[in-house]
Amino acid sequence: MKILAFNWKLNPLTEREALSLSSLSDRKDVILFPPAVFLNAVVRRTKRAEVGVQNLFWETEGAFTGETSPVMIKSLGVRWALVGHSERRKYFEETDETVNKKIKAAFAAGLNVILCVGEPMSARKKGIHAARAFVRKQLVRGLSGIRNSKFLPAQAGKIRNLAVAYEPIWAISGGAVHHPSDTPKDSAEMAKFIKETLFSGFHSLNPEVLYGGSVDSKNVADFLKPREVDGVLIGGASVKKEELKKIFKRAN
Ligand code: 13P
Repeated sequence: MKILAFNWKLNPLTEREALSLSSLSDRKDVILFPPAVFLNAVVRRTKRAEVGVQNLFWETEGAFTGETSPVMIKSLGVRWALVGHSERRKYFEETDETVNKKIKAAFAAGLNVILCVGEPMSARKKGIHAARAFVRKQLVRGLSGIRNSKFLPAQAGKIRNLAVAYEPIWAISGGAVHHPSDTPKDSAEMAKFIKETLFSGFHSLNPEVLYGGSVDSKNVADFLKPREVDGVLIGGASVKKEELKKIFKRAN
């Protein structure tokens, strides 16, 4: 079964609604990313789905007003951390360097990581090579120093604590400008490129690769079909109950 990861972003507005969404989504191979204030409630409500945090800080404790420690998150029973989402890079000035610190801190706390990468429209317009170069740089910098460290198993092979989400920025819904979604063929090619880059290129890693960007009930089956794509990371459609029901039906 492929992975269905749901990034709720800044939704819904109440814990009651968050619990209702959790009950609907409580299935095996689902990872829920609710807003941090609902993490505790969602972890308690779910039995089959795993739960992740949308963001975390790289320090464990201290004078860092407003931040959330990976250790605190782990102590709630949360299993995953989303790191480097393009909205965090855009609105909160996250860089590949802070992404790298967050990944290391998440691993040190025993959390699994989904590293988000994806090129802007300006890169894609220059062609597939420019898009790949952009993504490659994010991977190399984001995962710098992680190979052969205490964070990951040194040997090559399938690893369970790191996944990569390929989310081309121009395909994500809710942006200021609406662009068409990527095609399943293109997303599969980029997933293959990401796997090759990590496996043969420099890390000997073999993480699962998810696709994200305007995935909904109409296209989810197509995006899940290619062998190279191990799952999807869905935003907007994952907080609409009717869409959610259809997504589960079509993803089967
Ligand atoms: P949408 O599914 O709303 O395009 O969002 C994708 C995304 O950013 C998931 O992390």
